[in-house]
Amino acid sequence: MYKILDGKTTAAEVKAKVAEDVVELKECGVTPGLAVIIVGNDPASRVYVDNKEKDCAQVGIRSTEYALLETTSQEELLSLIHKLNNDPEVDGILCQLPLPLGLDEKTVIGAITPEKDVDCFHPENVGHVMQGDYTFLPCTPAGIMKLLERECVDVSGKHCVVIGRSNIVGKPMAMLMLNASATVTVCHSKTRNLADYTRCADILVSAVGKAGFITADMVKPGSVVIDVGMNRNSQGKLCGDVDFENVAPLCSYITPVPGGVGPMTRAELLVNTVSAAKKRK
Ligand code: GUN
Repeated sequence: MYKILDGKTTAAEVKAKVAEDVVELKECGVTPGLAVIIVGNDPASRVYVDNKEKDCAQVGIRSTEYALLETTSQEELLSLIHKLNNDPEVDGILCQLPLPLGLDEKTVIGAITPEKDVDCFHPENVGHVMQGDYTFLPCTPAGIMKLLERECVDVSGKHCVVIGRSNIVGKPMAMLMLNASATVTVCHSKTRNLADYTRCADILVSAVGKAGFITADMVKPGSVVIDVGMNRNSQGKLCGDVDFENVAPLCSYITPVPGGVGPMTRAELLVNTVSAAKKRK
């Protein structure tokens, strides 16, 4: 019988600890502050940003939204980031991606001072992740590691197969697993005979973005399956990459969608914001 890796409950535990830390910081006169920048009218980004702001309010972090027009120039956006970099009341700066066409994500991410880069996207912080000495941890991979730790799923010596090579999930996920002494294989859209790899995975992480992509024949019996996908099925229902109904009975552990990785990503942003505020204190 498989067990659910419960992101909702674990995230609630993480948030409770963050809320305690916020109380302590406030007693010392520091209210953690997160600046959230959203450019344009992407509906998915709007939902993500609203949720992040709700989370902040729940744990006592002051979030301030900067909603910029689709037509914002690179100079205007960079000038806002410079202002926030120099604002002592702002501990974390998050610029929601993707940015509208014409704005260069690499330049924008690089303009956020590494001390306030709570997404852990800045090359300096990515470098720290590579070296295994963390200031901030990348939110989704850190949330996944925490889910595994909570259920005492040891990563050391395991074969972890990550599908997806994005800077946000796939690459940093592979790095955290490698740092935890796993043997890691990274697969992607050009991988040939994908199932040959996935069938060898003790821990399979799917960050593909296609409903029903991971089918039962691709999964090793007894393995752990982590679903990072956030898709809509043909009925418009939120679902992950994994054909849950048919894959779950094969697994030792599996994350559901919703209620798996998503809440953990959101919780880890709060962890990073509080850790930035602790440095200010
Ligand atoms: N777009 C999709 N995921 C993320 C995220 O974790 N952070 C930011 N800033 N943008 C995103």
